[in-house]
Amino acid sequence: MAHVAIAAPPRFARRMALLDSENAFKIGPWIREVEASGRRVIKCNIGEPDFPLPEHIAAEVKKQIDAGQTHYCDPQGIEPLREAIARTTGEARGLSITPDRVVVFPGAKPPIGFAQQAYCDPGDEVIYPSPGFPIYESFIRYVDAVPVPLHLREEAGFAFTGAELEPLISARTKLIYLNFPSNPTGGVASRAQLEDIAEVILREAPDDVRVYSDEVYEAILFDGAKHESIASIDGMAERTIIVGGVSKSYAWTGGRVGWAIFPTAEEAALFRNLNINYYSCVPAYNQWGAKVAIESRQSAFEIAKMVAAFERRRDVVAGALNAIDGISCQLPRGAFYVFPNIAGVCERLGVIDAYDALPQQIRSRTSPSTLFQLFLLFEHGVATLDRKSFGRIGTEGKHFLRISVATSLEDLETAVLRIAMAAEDREGFRQFIAGGRHLY
Ligand SMILES: Cc1ncc(COP(=O)(O)O)c(C=O)c1O
Repeated sequence: MAHVAIAAPPRFARRMALLDSENAFKIGPWIREVEASGRRVIKCNIGEPDFPLPEHIAAEVKKQIDAGQTHYCDPQGIEPLREAIARTTGEARGLSITPDRVVVFPGAKPPIGFAQQAYCDPGDEVIYPSPGFPIYESFIRYVDAVPVPLHLREEAGFAFTGAELEPLISARTKLIYLNFPSNPTGGVASRAQLEDIAEVILREAPDDVRVYSDEVYEAILFDGAKHESIASIDGMAERTIIVGGVSKSYAWTGGRVGWAIFPTAEEAALFRNLNINYYSCVPAYNQWGAKVAIESRQSAFEIAKMVAAFERRRDVVAGALNAIDGISCQLPRGAFYVFPNIAGVCERLGVIDAYDALPQQIRSRTSPSTLFQLFLLFEHGVATLDRKSFGRIGTEGKHFLRISVATSLEDLETAVLRIAMAAEDREGFRQFIAGGRHLY
């Protein structure tokens, strides 16, 4: 399998060259560079809702700071929040969950890498969706495990079948990541699809294999759909780690509160100890705010407003993208991204030929969709993310962009107009490549 090494200066340990990153954070300086030249960039790269933290949650956080909740607290998460998470997650999934199985983290991101540290010995295998949230793949080599990407097919609505998963499961499999609704595709698995996946896992995977069900977008579903979790399927709760958080549902990425519910209290205790080793605890005032967020009826009203806006923008953006010759865009069923296939544009603009003609050391760091992404940003003022930002292994010949709709409708309309212009700008693209800057 191809292995992408990140350059690390010799003074660092070898493993540092094996840790990848999240491009959503990397693109910021490039955007500032374009803006410094006096051009306005439309930011369709953003992975966070463009809504403020709802007032009732903000008020609770302020109240808790005034009440002195500013000290160390339980490294596993404050008991009242863990009780609220156990009760609400259990009720929504028809499960009985005790608070001793819940661990609170600074966001839903830390348990991704912690899970690999906790469950994988060298050589153990980790199955994860590709395209998928980049941190699943990013950590695997770093912990000396083996990445096993499960390539999601556009034709299947970016879900997958049990038959596609089955050949990837081996005696060395330790973790299987699932993420519905999905970043970056907006794909959602139906109950029947989850049952099919669960059937294969129950039949083929050893009992100690953990399914890591990343459900951070559970509240952001379109067309009236209801969230389905694989943990609700008979036999799966005993193997599934259910992960959630406040970043997406309550537009609170800066709150840094996420959680995981483990199959056993023993596993939760191990992750509690990882928390102790890394950062001791999550700020208590934010945890009290999170408790209000997940329990208050006001939250459901705020979520509904946000989801309605995302759904409207999704319809506009997907419709406009599908009208561009060379782009096809599925209608996402959740989250706040669209993930158009841009193969036709790459072909027509000469992006693939330009990529093929690049020197090998540049080619290994870029891809056709990266070249188009950077052309869009530097020459047409639209920030997006390329296919490679969502898993690198085995992505040759796959040409997609992620466009976030967490930006105003007006800006999104301008963005798709600019994308349509870029898709015809053959001469501009030729000059961009000839200029030789910003190719990766
Ligand atoms: C699929 C997925 N999981 C986890 C996270 C991490 O979220 P946070 O750490 O902000 O809770 C994100 C953020 O973009 C995500 O898209």
